[in-house]
Amino acid sequence: MQTLKNKVVLITGANRGIGKSLVKASLQKGASKIYATCRDLGKMPNFEDNRVITLELDITNEHQITKVVKQASDMQVLINNAGVLNPGTILDGEISTIKKDMDVNYYGTLNMMRAFASTLDQNSPSTLVNLTSIVAYSPLPSIAGYSASKAALLSATYSVRIELAKRGIMVHAVNPGAIDTDMNKGSDWDMPSPDSVAKTILDKVENEELDIIPEDIGLEMFNAWKENPKNLAKMFHKIYHEE
Ligand SMILES: NC(=O)c1ccc[n+]([C@@H]2O[C@H](COP(=O)([O-])OP(=O)(O)OC[C@H]3O[C@@H](n4cnc5c(N)ncnc54)[C@H](OP(=O)(O)O)[C@@H]3O)[C@@H](O)[C@H]2O)c1
Repeated sequence: MQTLKNKVVLITGANRGIGKSLVKASLQKGASKIYATCRDLGKMPNFEDNRVITLELDITNEHQITKVVKQASDMQVLINNAGVLNPGTILDGEISTIKKDMDVNYYGTLNMMRAFASTLDQNSPSTLVNLTSIVAYSPLPSIAGYSASKAALLSATYSVRIELAKRGIMVHAVNPGAIDTDMNKGSDWDMPSPDSVAKTILDKVENEELDIIPEDIGLEMFNAWKENPKNLAKMFHKIYHEE
């Protein structure tokens, strides 16, 4: 069991959604310092706790990443939460938004892992957490670019898990189904709140679960996939053709 108490945590995309909830959950877990990062500091909420240090960070901006690596040299837990979702199928989706999903979700997170690897090394035992998605296991055609970017990120997460295994760095993949954030605006699914999911994610990180499905919708999909990958493809076929 690893504990987040007295740990120094860095969270990307911390201004809203799951990232904002992860900041609050880290505070509740007793983290000693939280670097809450986001693209526009004007949009960062006031967490009313002096353990929170806010930093500007767009994960596609290598210059900003380099600056944050210097500012957060005591970081022990890196949570790569920032992500984007653009709708669109393989055949009809805008190529520019398919590229955008890949730039942020895959290359942006990849850049973060590469830039912070030596900090994680120096401060080991340390922790790396990547937010992927259940669609990394099987794609949902209406969000095909997003699905591909998360499949690529899950693959990178599994790669780096093996790469870092002997360096005291634990690598977690968080693969949620559906959570009630801006990303799912307009959906009529009955989804859990980001606050409750963030708490579950950190509980599971503390319990050293490497592959984390933090809510029931994701769990139902994951169990279907585990039984037979075709079962999840069938679920997504049904969702896509009934949408
Ligand atoms: N919600 C779900 O059901 C669900 C399911 C599976 C996986 N996830 C994953 O969980 C993570 C958080 O999702 P969410 O639901 O909280 O989404 P959200 O409410 O849309 O928030 C996304 C966050 O990512 C930030 N972001 C976007 N592009 C960025 C960039 N280039 N650099 C830095 N930050 C950037 C956004 O900042 P701005 O405010 O500046 O745009 C925002 O803070 C994502 O990786 C998402 O793919 C979510």
